[in-house]
Amino acid sequence: MALLENKTILVTGILTDASLAFSVAREAQLEGATVIATGFGRGLSLTRRVLRKLPEPVELLELDVTDEASLTSCAAGVAELTDRLDGLVHAIGFAPAACLGEGMLAASAEEAATAFTISSYSLAALCRTFLSLLGQGSSVVGLDFDATKAWPLYDWMGVAKASLESLNRYLARDLGPAGIRVNLVAAGPIRTMAAKSIPGFSTFEDAWASGAPLGWDVNDSLPVAKAVLALLSELLPATTGEILHVDGGVHALGAMQGPYA
Ligand SMILES: NC(=O)c1ccc[n+]([C@@H]2O[C@H](COP(=O)([O-])OP(=O)(O)OC[C@H]3O[C@@H](n4cnc5c(N)ncnc54)[C@H](O)[C@@H]3O)[C@@H](O)[C@H]2O)c1
Repeated sequence: MALLENKTILVTGILTDASLAFSVAREAQLEGATVIATGFGRGLSLTRRVLRKLPEPVELLELDVTDEASLTSCAAGVAELTDRLDGLVHAIGFAPAACLGEGMLAASAEEAATAFTISSYSLAALCRTFLSLLGQGSSVVGLDFDATKAWPLYDWMGVAKASLESLNRYLARDLGPAGIRVNLVAAGPIRTMAAKSIPGFSTFEDAWASGAPLGWDVNDSLPVAKAVLALLSELLPATTGEILHVDGGVHALGAMQGPYA
């Protein structure tokens, strides 16, 4: 039996075929899942086109995680398609320009709050919105970037990810009694639209090229997608509040390591 046979998974965050969520949707379909996708704002038509590249057809619903009315109408749309979500994938991130690459003193409180609302709080908003469709055995998975360190350039997005990591633990606490798992995959750098919005993204590429003991390909999102699939599947039934690092091993090392031949 395929890993996600008979499972219905809601995947947010597909914008291009480089999106981490696109790889997750493709691999989930290949493992037997029915995928429902959400798209956002001006990117919606791009998402619709990109979904045609998936192996199976996908229902697409509009969702802006900052808009309560959009969350409510998306939930109603999903409920028309299914009475249960076995998986919910949060692959959403955004920070205003002042939050990235300008140091910690440039962004206003409002700009930092925008990064927090879209990149972190939205995980709770999604869980609340779709709670009635989640149940025993359902799995929520979010995409993280290791927030235990202060990286160059990542600035307020790093703070938003630190908050996401904490929220992951609190949601695991609150949803566990209903049998719902909540976990994050902390990915190494992959060339996506969100990554391109980070000025000097090549700094990360260089650090991973020289520092990852397993090596790292910034154009290959498959390892990240596979880890998300493992967490969506029944292979890790007692794992929640966890952060699974899929970064070639960089998180395990100190700052002065590498290169590894
Ligand atoms: N690319 C990387 O190097 C990397 C590494 C670690 C973690 N991540 C995380 O992976 C996740 C997916 O990002 P990606 O790299 O695939 O880039 P991406 O640009 O393909 O995806 C980001 C998505 O966020 C969506 N989004 C932004 N604002 C939204 C809103 N208000 N409502 C709903 N959706 C909204 C966009 O439409 C887009 O689909 C993000 O959380 C990102 O931080 C990325």
